[in-house]
Amino acid sequence: MAQQTHQTEQQQTFVAGTAPGAVPLVGHAWQMMRRPLQFMSSLSRHGDLVKIRLGPTEAHVPTHPALLRHVLTSDEEYDKGGIFYDRARDIAGNGLVTCPYADHRRQRRLMQSAFTRPQLKRYASAMHAEIESSTERWSEGLVVDAFPEMYGMALRTVGRTLYSTPVSKELADSVERAFDAVLKGLFRQMFLPAAVRKMPGPGNRRYRANLDYLHRTTQTLIDDYRRDGADHDDLLSALLDSRDEDGGRLGDREIHDQVITVMAAGTETVAATLTWIFYLLSKYPRIERELYAEIDEVLAGRAPEFDDIARLRLTDRIITETLRLYPPAWLFTRLTSTELDVAGVRLPAQSTVVFSPAAVALDAPSFPKERQFDPDRWLPDRVTPQARQSFMAFGTGARKCIGDLYARTEATLALATILSKWRVTCEPGVDVRPVPLATVYQPRRLRLRLTSRTPGAR
Ligand code: HEM
Repeated sequence: MAQQTHQTEQQQTFVAGTAPGAVPLVGHAWQMMRRPLQFMSSLSRHGDLVKIRLGPTEAHVPTHPALLRHVLTSDEEYDKGGIFYDRARDIAGNGLVTCPYADHRRQRRLMQSAFTRPQLKRYASAMHAEIESSTERWSEGLVVDAFPEMYGMALRTVGRTLYSTPVSKELADSVERAFDAVLKGLFRQMFLPAAVRKMPGPGNRRYRANLDYLHRTTQTLIDDYRRDGADHDDLLSALLDSRDEDGGRLGDREIHDQVITVMAAGTETVAATLTWIFYLLSKYPRIERELYAEIDEVLAGRAPEFDDIARLRLTDRIITETLRLYPPAWLFTRLTSTELDVAGVRLPAQSTVVFSPAAVALDAPSFPKERQFDPDRWLPDRVTPQARQSFMAFGTGARKCIGDLYARTEATLALATILSKWRVTCEPGVDVRPVPLATVYQPRRLRLRLTSRTPGAR
C-alpha cells in the first residue's frame, strides 16, 4: 500500500493509496456490490485518492471531500464516461445526465427552465394529487413492501409532472414494468464483459426488449402530445418550449433522451430516500415524534402545498441527513480527458475515476459522531461550511443534480401527505443489507404497516 503525497494549488496535501483485498479476476467488484456503502466509506482509511480494481478496470476513488469537489468541479478534465455512464447511455442516450462536457452547457441551459421554482410550484400540485391517489389505495392495517410501494408512487409522480395528459392504466403499468426491468438490469449489464452482454441469453434478451419498448413508447407519447397541441403546464411542455438566448431549442432526439433521463434519474432515487427515512424513523422514536408534531402543526389538518415546504424544516433536515447516511445513487464514473496529476498519481487520459457520495459521507471532521442519524446537525446555527462541502448526495459543480429541489419537494410532500394520515411502523424481519446489483441502495426487506391516525396522536 505505497503512499504518496501531493500538494494542490490550495496547499492541501492529499495522500494516495491502494485498497487492500482485491481478488483475482473481479478485483474489488464483489466487495463493492455486496456492501457498497460500507466498502466506499471504508476507503478513506487507505488515502485521499484510493486505487481499486473492478474486474479488469483500474479505478481511482477520491475519498477526501476537497479532492472529490475538485474532481467534480473540473468537469472538462473529468468527463462523463466509464463503466457506469457507458451503460447508462443505453437507457438515457445523450440526455443531460449522460452527455459529455462538449454538449453539457447548452443542454443544461435548455433544461433549466423546466426546474425553476415557479415550475416546481406547478408540479407540486400534480405531485400531491398523485401521492394522495397512491395512498387512497391503502387500508387499515395494510402491510406493504417499502421500496416497491415508494417506487410505484415515485414513478407515477414523475410521470404525472412530466406528462399531464392522462394515459391508460394498462399503458402506465407496462411502462412501470419495463422501467423496473431496465433499471434492475443496469448494474448487471455494467459488470458483464462486452462479449457476454452481446450473447442472446434470456437476461440480455429481456433487458433489450424492455429497453426497446421503453424507447418506442416514450417516442409515441411525445408524438401524441405534440399532435394534441394543447397548452400544458407540465415538465414536457417546459422542455418543448425552452429556447436559449440564440433561439436554439432541444432537438427531437434530445427531447426523447431528456424524458427518459428525468424518469430514470428521478424515480428510484426518491423512492429509496423515502424508504430509508421510514427505516431511520423506526430507529429514532424521538425524532419520529417530532416529525409527526411538525407536520400536524404546519398542516393543521389540510393537504400540504408547495408553500408549506419552507415551514417543514425538520422534514427537510431529515431528508438531508438520510441522504448523507444512505445516498441512494452511490456510484458514478468519470473518464479523464487528458493526462492528469492528482494526489501525486499520474493518471493517463481515459483513466476511470469513481464518484461516490458514500466515500465522503462519514468524513469525521465534517460530521462529528459521523454514524449517528442526527438531522439537527443541519440546523442553520449548527451546520458548518465543512459539512455543507462534504454533502455530495446530489453531486456538485456544473453536473450537480438538476432535480435536487424537485426531489426535496416530492419527498416532503410525500412525508407530509402520508404521515398526516397514517402511522407507519416497520414490521419485524427487517433486512437492511442492500439488494445485490440494484441501481440504487435499497434494503432487501423492509415492510411497513399502515395504521390510520388522527393528527395530534401518534
Ligand atoms: C433523492 C433524489 C436524487 C438524488 C440522490 C440524485 C442524485 C444525483 C447525483 C449525485 C447527480 C450527479 C451525477 C454525477 O455527477 O455523475 C445527479 C444528476 C442529475 N439528476 Fe439527480 N438525484 C435525485 C433526484 C433527481 C430527480 C427527481 C431528477 C429529475 C426530476 C433528477 C435528475 C438529474 C439530472 C437530469 C442530472 C444530470 C445533471 C447534469 O449533469 O447537469 N435527479 N443526480
